[in-house]
Amino acid sequence: MKADVLLGLQWGDEGKGKIVDVLTPKYNIIARFQGGPNAGHTLVFNNVKHVLHTIPSGIFRENAINIIGNGVVIDPYIFKEEVDKLTAQGIDVASKIILSSKAHIIMPTHKALDEAYENAKGDKKIGSTKKGIGPTYTDKVARHGLRVGDILNNFAERYSECKNNHLQILKNYDYSFDIAAYEKQWFEGIALLQSLRIETTEVLVNKELQAGKSVLCEGAQGTLLDVEFGSYPFVTSSNTVSAGACTGLGISPKAVGEVFGIFKAYCTRVGSGPFPTELFDADGKTMQDVGREFGSTTGRARRCGWLDLVALKYAIMINGVTQLFMMKIDVLNSFDTIKICTKYAYKGSTINYVPDDLENVTPIYEEFKGWKQDLPMSTYEELPAEIKNYITFIEKETGVPLTIVSTGPEREKTIIR
Ligand code: GDP
Ligand code: IMO
Ligand code: MG
Repeated sequence: MKADVLLGLQWGDEGKGKIVDVLTPKYNIIARFQGGPNAGHTLVFNNVKHVLHTIPSGIFRENAINIIGNGVVIDPYIFKEEVDKLTAQGIDVASKIILSSKAHIIMPTHKALDEAYENAKGDKKIGSTKKGIGPTYTDKVARHGLRVGDILNNFAERYSECKNNHLQILKNYDYSFDIAAYEKQWFEGIALLQSLRIETTEVLVNKELQAGKSVLCEGAQGTLLDVEFGSYPFVTSSNTVSAGACTGLGISPKAVGEVFGIFKAYCTRVGSGPFPTELFDADGKTMQDVGREFGSTTGRARRCGWLDLVALKYAIMINGVTQLFMMKIDVLNSFDTIKICTKYAYKGSTINYVPDDLENVTPIYEEFKGWKQDLPMSTYEELPAEIKNYITFIEKETGVPLTIVSTGPEREKTIIR
């Protein structure tokens, strides 16, 4: 079998958690390949909302094994909180989760460094979730990070060596924090990690694929936050694109099957950085209110704007998307007119590509008639003609079939064509 990859095509929060949960019954294994607790993936079923940060979104379904791959960074403190919550809901996490021995660990001082660096940036701040993501990936690439496998031997010594390095750096910043308070639960988290299955998951995933098992790789963040191809420096510190599934799980490009690209019917962004179609008017406010656009991890208000097809096509190209899933179409139910940015005005000409200085483009829009009705329908055929027209336009422009339309946060509000 080949592994399918599901990832965000915009600036994150496209609805990855919801769709992974919907698709999990078709898969044996759900595997996260990058990012860490900066992610917040929301699932809604039986009238309850669940938010996952590090744990893959297949955890609520029977039978699926959930893998946290080598490309992920794990904060034991936050991980323990997640596991405790799931355990309280009757989920036997230990029997359903496998951790890569090569995944890196977020230390309390990584979090402190993240915060100190952000504070020092003043008005150039990235808008990081301050979960320690950047400093942890920095240590990984600099070759002095701590990995999950390290907790099994000589851990205390390695930990204090890294911590002391960080404390030296922190001395240069006007930043103080109560490390002891955080460390207590953090070490409880380490003990929890020690009790779970820790494996060379790259070997396991390849063996399972060869044995005919199905794997869905779950992305975090979105393509426009990718450290290479996003709106640098306003990005996260990992490869959020489909290639990240290969490095983050140890599978070859030949092992990748479908690439599912998720996008909202409009756009959101949380944190700083360019956002060509951002709205500052009543339409943007409606998207924020109706779409409940507040961060699942930090609670911050998400910036909102029209769908950006230029950026979407770029994301489709980078990822090799084979199927598009469109989310939150219901949020546009009340609009008379809906806009899609199809080109940019840039330095006196019209362009249809994403330049490196995205902050210098002005969007050029095409307008579509709104459908002005609620969407209780459950089949594609029942959808209003205006939505079908919107979808046909996107399919024609991108050349990729749009196979899922999501009309609400709940599992059942999902139309699969
Ligand atoms: P993720 O990070 O990609 O998993 O997305 P988030 O969970 O951070 O944000 C998506 C938000 O939209 C969550 O609150 C979901 O419950 C909600 N959501 C997902 N799909 C839909 C949809 O089709 N309609 C509406 N109204 N909300 C949705
Ligand atoms: P999910 O998986 C939306 C954004 C932050 C900030 C930038 C860098 O839920 O889609 P970081 O903490 O990684 O140093 O922050 O990236 N960001 C996200 N935005 N959804 C996410 O994840 C995000 N993870 C990081 O707001 O702008
Ligand atoms: Mg999210």
